[in-house]
Amino acid sequence: MARLDPHSYNDDTQPETESLTWKARVDFNTRRLHAEATLSLKESSAGPLDLDTRDLEIRAVVDGEGKPLPFLLSPPEPILGSRLRVELKPGTKQVTVRYRTSPQASALQWLTPAQTAGGEYPYLFSQCQAIHARSVVPLQDTPRIRIRYRAELTVSKELKAVMGAGFAGREEQGVEAVERYEMPQPIPPYLLAFAVGRLAAKELGPRSRVWAEPEVLERAAEEFEDVDSMLRAAEALFGTYDWERFDLLTMPPSFPYGGMENPRLTFLTPTLLAGDKSLVSVVAHELAHSWTGNLVTNASAEHFWLNEGFTVFAERRIVEALYGTDVAMLHAALGRRALEEATHHFRAHPQLTALRTHLTGVDPDEAFSQVPYEKGYLLLRALEDAVGRPAFDGFLKRYLEAHRFQALTTEQFTAFVEKELPGALAKVDADAYLNKPGIPAGAPVPRSERLERMTKLKGRVPTAEDVKDWTPAEWQLYIEWLPKGTSRDVFRQMDERFHLTKSQNSEVLVAWLAAALKAGWEPALGRTEAFLGEVGRMKYLKPLYGALSATPEGKVLARSLFNRYAERYHPIAQAAVESILNRA
Ligand code: BES
Ligand code: ZN
Repeated sequence: MARLDPHSYNDDTQPETESLTWKARVDFNTRRLHAEATLSLKESSAGPLDLDTRDLEIRAVVDGEGKPLPFLLSPPEPILGSRLRVELKPGTKQVTVRYRTSPQASALQWLTPAQTAGGEYPYLFSQCQAIHARSVVPLQDTPRIRIRYRAELTVSKELKAVMGAGFAGREEQGVEAVERYEMPQPIPPYLLAFAVGRLAAKELGPRSRVWAEPEVLERAAEEFEDVDSMLRAAEALFGTYDWERFDLLTMPPSFPYGGMENPRLTFLTPTLLAGDKSLVSVVAHELAHSWTGNLVTNASAEHFWLNEGFTVFAERRIVEALYGTDVAMLHAALGRRALEEATHHFRAHPQLTALRTHLTGVDPDEAFSQVPYEKGYLLLRALEDAVGRPAFDGFLKRYLEAHRFQALTTEQFTAFVEKELPGALAKVDADAYLNKPGIPAGAPVPRSERLERMTKLKGRVPTAEDVKDWTPAEWQLYIEWLPKGTSRDVFRQMDERFHLTKSQNSEVLVAWLAAALKAGWEPALGRTEAFLGEVGRMKYLKPLYGALSATPEGKVLARSLFNRYAERYHPIAQAAVESILNRA
């Protein structure tokens, strides 16, 4: 017996799930899904089948003939949830679990009409990565086991249900509608995804449309109109797109991430709607996951960098192809700052700043940081620099081709690199990236003309002339490069000249507010308070609650804001802010 994934009860001696049939009725009144999940197993074998669950109420477990199977639901363990052990009989190939979810299901956020753009209908969405699928469906919740699925969601007739899957039809019966979806490509369970709300769609290209509440649809369609050229650029770099469609769903502001690469239907925060396409690299990132992550998948959260480091690398290649090297380098410089910040943040847990992590007893949401993204990016850049771009591009294509629809460990990655690019790992000292803390001394440094110009401005307040051709990325970088201890007077001058507290670009705004709060620039406070009530994206909540918590009075304010706003946030974001406030 071996449990290969520290975040799952799955035991590799037990049969694996081949496919899932999932039926759920969405009940906004009780905030529950009343559901039935049928797991079809690859092989039959008598004995225990251990499934992951969290906060599920199990009603019954039956086999393919409808005969009850004995089961035991263990008390919940921290992080993992409750093991559901089903006793299979000889020949059992199908297990059906009837259950309902908890109103507190960690993957789900139930929004009241007031929390939506339209204000009239409720909204529900899932966020399963890394280990929240088990709060929605009892299954083997490890990316080592991929499943195909069919799903039927029953919703009230005024609402639309969408899934990260192929649409298979909608039937209306009385006041209800049944929406059917099919996912023919096998996916890791963390990519199971759905949303229910008052949704409308607009076509963006032959393979893409954008979904959103009608009130935001036009803005979203304009912001994301270049998605088809992104798709084509990505295919030129990484090979054919395997998922048929690449649709986008613009989420309500409480969506806890910038984007989530749900297959065929990327979920995006509405904070990307800056009006000038300046934040669409997030779309490039989620698109890139169609290869790195969704096709070639980390074997567990301990190898998360294989998903995110590769995807940041791929994202910047797409950005370079569409917007030029200078823009990609600006993003790399921002990434470098984020990495320095993250290594500082984890100074008490340096082992979490190695790419290959050891996470037994550690919640993946707690271990989450920019390290797998940006240190992973640097390792791949170092390898590219070492062997040259043509050789590295060839390697990338072979890497993707060789591991399609498979899960991979860091150790399998290094073995593959050693075979394909002999000596390259040693040349870049890959061990320093993979197994040692911090930023390796010889790591690639982003360089470009625009960056040169930015560097010269360090240490002074820019003039109108300096900033006349700045994009939001330059503003953000200037702010993030401000040294610790920059005086309040500098913030006052900057705000008088450039009105940064009023910025409409969420990245610039949050960089500004976090720095200004730390410097004690009071006008930032009001904007921060309002913003924390509007947006639930963790990338913004964490630095802002963190900056507030730096002083004793700020701590009191942060706590009272959180008490006021917590119920607007997704359960995952609530837990993240909670842990910041408890630490502070
Ligand atoms: N897959 C991630 C989001 C995620 C990671 C969800 C871990 C749950 C657990 C997604 O692809 C992502 O990385 N989003 C980034 C944007 C990106 C441009 C770096 C984000 O949300 O900020
Ligand atoms: Zn990602």
